[in-house]
Amino acid sequence: DRGIACLAALSETHQILQKTCRDFANAELAPHARHHDREHLYPAEQVRRLGELGLMSVTVQEEYGGTGLDYQAYAIGMEEVARGDAAVSIVMGVNNLYLGAVQQHGTEAQKQQFLVPYTQGQHIAFYALSEPGSGSDASAASTTAKLNAGGNYLLNGTKAWISNSKEASGGIIFATIDKSLKHKGITAFLTEKNVPGLTIAKNESKMGMCASSTCQLSLDDMCVPQSQVLGSPGSGFRIAMESLDCGRIGIAAQSTGIAQAAFELALDYAEKRVAFGQRLSRLQMIQQKLADMALRVETARLLTWRAAWLKDNGMSITKEAAMAKLHASEAATYCAHQCIQILGGMGYTTDLPAEMYYRNARVTEIYEGTSEIQRIVIANCVLQSISN
Ligand code: CAA
Repeated sequence: DRGIACLAALSETHQILQKTCRDFANAELAPHARHHDREHLYPAEQVRRLGELGLMSVTVQEEYGGTGLDYQAYAIGMEEVARGDAAVSIVMGVNNLYLGAVQQHGTEAQKQQFLVPYTQGQHIAFYALSEPGSGSDASAASTTAKLNAGGNYLLNGTKAWISNSKEASGGIIFATIDKSLKHKGITAFLTEKNVPGLTIAKNESKMGMCASSTCQLSLDDMCVPQSQVLGSPGSGFRIAMESLDCGRIGIAAQSTGIAQAAFELALDYAEKRVAFGQRLSRLQMIQQKLADMALRVETARLLTWRAAWLKDNGMSITKEAAMAKLHASEAATYCAHQCIQILGGMGYTTDLPAEMYYRNARVTEIYEGTSEIQRIVIANCVLQSISN
């Protein structure tokens, strides 16, 4: 029964959330998305509104200022926000990724300092795992953390492609306390951003998601008290992998939202545009594309909701979250590609958002684990299940 129950109708809470998020995205996200994208403007007002709607901390318990809903709710919210503006949804996604790790592994004091302030949208967080020399191979991180005589860790190195980091007030940094221990040396450190030794080194110029920031962090004898180690020294890799399992539900939902937006635009255009004496939607070549798009959007949503349902019911999700993320991100790039194809010249210009969907979709196959990494994760799980 792994995931079958998620096929039942959405609960009333989920239906209300879906409608609220859809109305919000139509009214307050989609109308500004292309301007923010073109001008590379951080959507501060939209993030503030996400906070008011409880979308910046969907699964965080209410006692810590969160919304106290489940991962199904998170997936629904992410999809709707991404359908309106994918760049806004990545601000939301990375914040929720961070909060998930702190809620799961933080001490009470850490939750007060590093969870509560990040739940309402006033402060956002980053999640610094990747490095210039280690993206997919996360356990090869070479940023070091050395314990000094005063009982503090000194962090040195460079973290790369860190979403949210320009506007963030704090986040998690993964560093190794002993590189010879490989993944067992990786340790997670909580930190505020405005601390000596931590600087934004480079703000990346990107193909898509241009309204959200992606920067390099430079760590130069950055001092972190031992009390800010999340979990225990050496447990950081497991924390990263577990939180990424949940994060991948978010990216799958985001991808589904982009795919849905591209599908809706293509459908609308195909119904209105006339060619060869009839509407485009009457041409079988176009119908085939629309059918393939609809299939991918719906299977992406089902796989995403299944992974969320498994998480909400306390089951392992490593394989299912990877499947959802892999399929949904490929669905997003497929649908954005076909949307441009159906729109033709209009799809290639910036008069319509098709080209933005295409650029935004592309990174969903890269961050929080590339499509190749998802296939490795799935294959490992499948092979493990037959050897047990
Ligand atoms: N949950 C819990 N533990 C896990 C796990 C999981 N999903 N996956 C692995 N582990 C554990 C293993 O059980 C093993 O534990 P033991 O030492 O106790 O045996 C340990 O971790 C090492 O496992 P592997 O040997 O499988 O590790 P690996 O080095 O071969 O790497 C990998 C596995 C799947 C390739 C991993 O490195 C990976 O996921 N890479 C992709 C990294 C990634 O997604 N980066 C995204 C950056 S964050 C981001 O993008 C956010 C943003 O800004 C948008």
